[in-house]
Amino acid sequence: MKITILTQFPEMFPGVLEASMLGRAQQGGLLEIKTVNIRDYTKDKHRRTDDAPFGGGAGMVMSPQPAFDALRACGAEGKRIIYMSPRGRLLDQELAQELAAEEEFFVLCGHYEGIDERIIEAWNMEEVSIGDYVLTGGELAAMVMIDCACRFVPGVLGSEVSLEEESIYSGLLEYPHYTKPRNFEGYEVPQVLVEGNHKLIRLWQFEQALRITARRRPDMLAAFLESPRKFSKDEKKIIDEILRETQGIEAEKQR
Ligand code: ADE
Repeated sequence: MKITILTQFPEMFPGVLEASMLGRAQQGGLLEIKTVNIRDYTKDKHRRTDDAPFGGGAGMVMSPQPAFDALRACGAEGKRIIYMSPRGRLLDQELAQELAAEEEFFVLCGHYEGIDERIIEAWNMEEVSIGDYVLTGGELAAMVMIDCACRFVPGVLGSEVSLEEESIYSGLLEYPHYTKPRNFEGYEVPQVLVEGNHKLIRLWQFEQALRITARRRPDMLAAFLESPRKFSKDEKKIIDEILRETQGIEAEKQR
């Protein structure tokens, strides 16, 4: 997969995208992530890439000329181009998977108050937000989105098992994890995990994932239980017990 990032701050990217999994995947040829400095394309004699907004108001707006020329120079015509923006489609696992299936896409990072709307329109850009808050620029948002999408590119995680496991539990928050030693300063690892009964371990993990989701994200739990997934008899027993408990807590709160 090839990703081209258009930004005024290319120096922000290497530390994040060249470390760890994404760095390895780039070295191994699974990913190619390139940054393009929009400022290199400005025709302004002071190298400016922005200007005051028509209609007045605070802040500066990214001018069309450097962005158009940078996009043309890197061959973005007709390609999927994402503009990072708090008014965009919210990034989630589904969008990340969709991007991971692309052979190539482009990402534009804005700054200041925003970018000239004609850049978005003329290049048919999709806007993507990473959450309902405003960052100083699109770079951090682009890193989050790219990191999240690249996890779904086959081979990037090294082992596909993690993704497979994730999909079993998709829609639930993660169950707790433990490693050696079994006893650390008096804190024990749950007994079931060290006894080696894989069926019981899976059920315990399922129960923990359900419990943590019920407590922290009841909206996610409701959606998970409505999904077409088939549950085993043991899983159903766990679900019923947790629902009884949470309904009991709700009733208690009402009183
Ligand atoms: N740029 C500024 N804030 C952002 C956000 N929340 N998501 C995506 N891009 C942004």
